[in-house]
Amino acid sequence: MIIEPRTIPWKDAYKLLIGSVLPRPIAFVSTVDHEGRANLAPFSFFTCISADPMLICFAPMVRGSDGAKKDTLKNIEATEQFIINIVSEDIINQVNECATEYPYEIDEFIVSGLKKEAGHKVNIPRVKESQVHLECTLYELHHYGSHPGSGSLVIGKVELINVADHLYEDGKINTNKLNPIGRLAGQSYTRAISDTFILNRKKSGDSK
Ligand SMILES: Cc1cc2nc3c(=O)[nH]c(=O)nc-3n(C[C@H](O)[C@H](O)[C@H](O)COP(=O)(O)O)c2cc1C
Repeated sequence: MIIEPRTIPWKDAYKLLIGSVLPRPIAFVSTVDHEGRANLAPFSFFTCISADPMLICFAPMVRGSDGAKKDTLKNIEATEQFIINIVSEDIINQVNECATEYPYEIDEFIVSGLKKEAGHKVNIPRVKESQVHLECTLYELHHYGSHPGSGSLVIGKVELINVADHLYEDGKINTNKLNPIGRLAGQSYTRAISDTFILNRKKSGDSK
């Protein structure tokens, strides 16, 4: 099958995209609006860019239902700060709950029952139940259209990483204990550490 994305409806293109690029990590993004009201939502179009400066990015799409900007993006434009709360299996149901399109003023911390803890460096609440938090300031913002199907790229500079003490071992994160969840297509998810294997790599110069 050969498909040119521009020749098919965006919802069909989206299905091919999320069925091709997977498993995807989940950024559970906390933000606040201009009045300080909190918002929490998951984004699996999420990855890292560089370690120095430490940059990450995620991509909120335009809301498919009504063409509106997602609350997360509106808040980041207003405050230029956000926190990425890393998703372990024990909070995946609450994460899913926070993907519901609630009205702008609704605080998904309250809806989901997740607890707030103040950020260390940014004026944003983090999810207490998450075991790793990336506290970010907005580094760059790019928009790729304003119609349903299009999206934006939020690049964040990680100002502080908060790792739960029991996960932090010899400067690394014990990923077995973290038990992160990845997103597949549609409503499917995967346990990232359930079927891992080791692959040795030949050394030539600095490894990435
Ligand atoms: C696991 C998961 C991953 C998601 N990833 C994305 C994503 O990468 N981009 C996006 O625009 N929406 C994504 N969504 C949908 C948003 O979470 C949803 O539109 C949410 O209502 C946005 O909330 P907000 O308007 O409060 O920002 C995802 C939903 C789930 C459950």
